[in-house]
Amino acid sequence: MAKTSNPEFAWKDGRIVPWPEATVHVSAETVLRGANVFEGMRAYWSEAEKELYIFKNKEHLRRLRQSCKIMRMTVPYSDDEFTQAFIDLLRANKFTAGVHFRPVVYFGEGESYAWKPEDIHNGAFVIAYSRPHAPSIKNGIKSCVSTWRRNSDNASPSRVKAAANYHNSRLAQVEAKMNGFGPPIMLNDRGEVAESPGACFMMVRDGVVITPPVSADILESITRQTLIDLYREELGVTVIERDIDRTELYIADETFFCGSGAEVQPITAVDHYDVGDGKVGPLTRRIQDLYFDIAAGKVDKFRHWLTPVYGNSTARG
Ligand SMILES: Cc1ncc(COP(=O)(O)O)c(C=O)c1O
Repeated sequence: MAKTSNPEFAWKDGRIVPWPEATVHVSAETVLRGANVFEGMRAYWSEAEKELYIFKNKEHLRRLRQSCKIMRMTVPYSDDEFTQAFIDLLRANKFTAGVHFRPVVYFGEGESYAWKPEDIHNGAFVIAYSRPHAPSIKNGIKSCVSTWRRNSDNASPSRVKAAANYHNSRLAQVEAKMNGFGPPIMLNDRGEVAESPGACFMMVRDGVVITPPVSADILESITRQTLIDLYREELGVTVIERDIDRTELYIADETFFCGSGAEVQPITAVDHYDVGDGKVGPLTRRIQDLYFDIAAGKVDKFRHWLTPVYGNSTARG
């Protein structure tokens, strides 16, 4: 998504600051080596309730801690402090439409490779932008299989949402774009389907939803788990987590990406093969509709997934 203008405020190291003041020094580890971990989260606007809802706040904070643990980073704030930071920032910027925001925990100035981690300043910041649905979620994108392999667990684990992993993502994304495609599908170093540069992958074959397992060199996506649960429990659709071969992509009935940023992004062609009849499929559309209804607070049963920002509703995070 092209950035249009900067918001007025960011949150940095414990307080709301004007956007130009949210800076770190060029010698910080986060600048020199991309030494940070982050989350990509969304908040959805309910026009009916005049309320902004953070989607699955608890799950994102849990994953942020898991990323930090693997990286041996100390998390400088509690979950409650982070949650309050998100609420304060979204309120300060007066968002009244869909928002994408990014909490980041970073290594500051110190020894190379941030060793020992406890001796080095760790900071955190949060930035947030207005982000409507991508227009492509309606009619789908054309994808391809990337020539770049996804980071492997024993090299630069995809399970960790580390900024440095996104160099791998960028190589694949830019190549696909130059070749005229939307986001590509990346295989792992075993040659099985992993994920896209910024989202997980699902396909439908014969009425069954299939998605790579969490051991396929993917991020343990919160949206992926959400959709697995919704398919099984709300739509009565079987979901199988298993390896996916490349040629299965060419004979699948439906394919789509899923992620907090990507939401439910239909894929209508892979490597110039039409997926199914080349149109967005029914199981993709049904899960998309349900996901957006839940995110906007329209389904009572799932309001516990939402954290209200302005306090105009009774939902709990
Ligand atoms: C590489 C990658 N995989 C998967 C996802 C999806 O994860 P989530 O659903 O938790 O946003 C993301 C981020 O959205 C990502 O960057």
